[in-house]
Amino acid sequence: MSETKKKTELRSAAWFGTQDKNGFMYRSWMKNQGIPDHEFQGKPIIGICNTWSELTPCNAHFRKIAEHVKRGIFEAGGFPVEFPVFSSGESNLRPTAMLTRNLASMDVEESIRGNPMDAVVLLVGCDKTTPALLMGAASVDLPTIVVTGGPMLNGKLNGKDIGSGTAVWQLHEQAKAGQISMHDFLSAEAGHSRSAGTCNTMGTASTMACMAESLGTSLPHNAAIPAVDARRYVLAHMSGIRIVEMVHEDLKLSKILKRENFENAIRVNAAIGGSTNAVIHLKAIAGRMGVPLELEDWTTIGKGTPTIVDLLPSGKYLMEEFYYAGGLPGVIRRMGEGGLLAHKDALTVNGNTLWDNCKDAPIYNDEVIRQLDTPLIEDGGIRILRGNLAPRGAVLKPSAASPHLMQHRGKAVVFEDFDHYKTRILDPDLDVDANSILVMKNCGPKGYPGMAEVGNMGLPPKLLAQGITDMVRISDARMSGTAYGTVVLHVAPEAMAGGPLGIVKDGDWIVLDCAGGGLNLELSDEEIQARLADRAENNKPVQHSGYQRLYLDHVLQADEGCDFDFLVGCRGSAVPKHSH
Ligand code: FES
Ligand code: MG
Repeated sequence: MSETKKKTELRSAAWFGTQDKNGFMYRSWMKNQGIPDHEFQGKPIIGICNTWSELTPCNAHFRKIAEHVKRGIFEAGGFPVEFPVFSSGESNLRPTAMLTRNLASMDVEESIRGNPMDAVVLLVGCDKTTPALLMGAASVDLPTIVVTGGPMLNGKLNGKDIGSGTAVWQLHEQAKAGQISMHDFLSAEAGHSRSAGTCNTMGTASTMACMAESLGTSLPHNAAIPAVDARRYVLAHMSGIRIVEMVHEDLKLSKILKRENFENAIRVNAAIGGSTNAVIHLKAIAGRMGVPLELEDWTTIGKGTPTIVDLLPSGKYLMEEFYYAGGLPGVIRRMGEGGLLAHKDALTVNGNTLWDNCKDAPIYNDEVIRQLDTPLIEDGGIRILRGNLAPRGAVLKPSAASPHLMQHRGKAVVFEDFDHYKTRILDPDLDVDANSILVMKNCGPKGYPGMAEVGNMGLPPKLLAQGITDMVRISDARMSGTAYGTVVLHVAPEAMAGGPLGIVKDGDWIVLDCAGGGLNLELSDEEIQARLADRAENNKPVQHSGYQRLYLDHVLQADEGCDFDFLVGCRGSAVPKHSH
């Protein structure tokens, strides 16, 4: 550990360190909590940013985690102050938690900057809580450490393991196809979610936990330890000790979140078969830190990286097995030994490089964390597609797609929005076959609004009944990280923002060329321009007030991370003015 910071060098001294009216006020009101005077005398004040909420069930155990973080902070000579922020919970929030990711990030940013703290611990879990807190913290740039809540234990149904989310999609399709009864479908609920924690598949929560760890913002093994495993609480305790040391070392988030760390994270995403949502979230976090990151980076950096983690939805195991097999350090070790970790010297929050943390990591199960020469998928990098249907890009996750559909030409079956899809897909006379391409509009950032996870449209029941299990689907929506299929997502610009997706008609031919990175409508430029001009005239913007008004006016498109235009960038931690 480096030199201890002098009392007066602490950021919190600007609140608690003066013997005057202001110091009196800042200390006195805090003392109503029973805090003795010596706790204000030059100790690092550590914020614990808590997304606990009983309405975010994945984060409902966070008060216990916070208690263990506090033990570590006290042990290291700091003083913890826990505070709540908006909790964007995936399972309950309508119309989609993504609508409030930026709202939460604003809450986090202003809470950290405006309050007396020298560093912050981010308690994250459910999908949006991880990017929201990292975005907000990056815009302030104090020493910051991520503690994740951990995944749920394996789901169980009829004696077999089932994975969060993925089982819902599968069982629902089976129920629609008449293969299981509605009673059996509904009775799976309790076994599906049988412990505290986040989704136990390699969905967005697990992916973002792995992203936080590979970016270097958490201690090793943070991503995979199950929520109810005692070692999760030890990690919380150790993170509490470490954040106090980081204050003395002045190890701010900007010293960790370098371009190199993002490049490592992109490769790790391919190796774990991570969620497409990471494309949007990493861009938004990088944008807050002023780190350049483009969609094409996912192709140039990620391409050729094999998926070696055999987890649902790409593979078959769950996060419990992943932890027991060696967790993310095991994956990073394999990547480094195979020359796939581009930046071994990238710094992490414990002061070591990523490679130092992982180079001796044990691997206990080669089926869960595969060898590089026997991967689950040869090339697991997320595909970026462009063309006249997606001039600013779209994404597809090859490890969740069907190889035979990744080069495909088909006729469009078009849904104007999600409601249209829900009714039209049930039509027994719908002109659709297995070669058709399902196209859905108006589900993007502005269109839904909030870019809901509806891109993995369920297949027409009549095709399911024929045993068809996958079709090409294209939309401006996202999809859950727990979902699967040959699904083209994040089409930008979205239909509501005037993108060409909005002019596709039934029967138009579309060519998906994953190998060449193309997504094109077989229409002439003249025809596309004529249809766009016609659509612009008929497109009446929906009126909203409240937060949705702010969102619609300022949200950026998917290729820019869906942040608000006015939130991009780091604004630092200085607040020169007192409150009285
Ligand atoms: Fe919270 Fe999946 S719903 S992590
Ligand atoms: Mg999810």
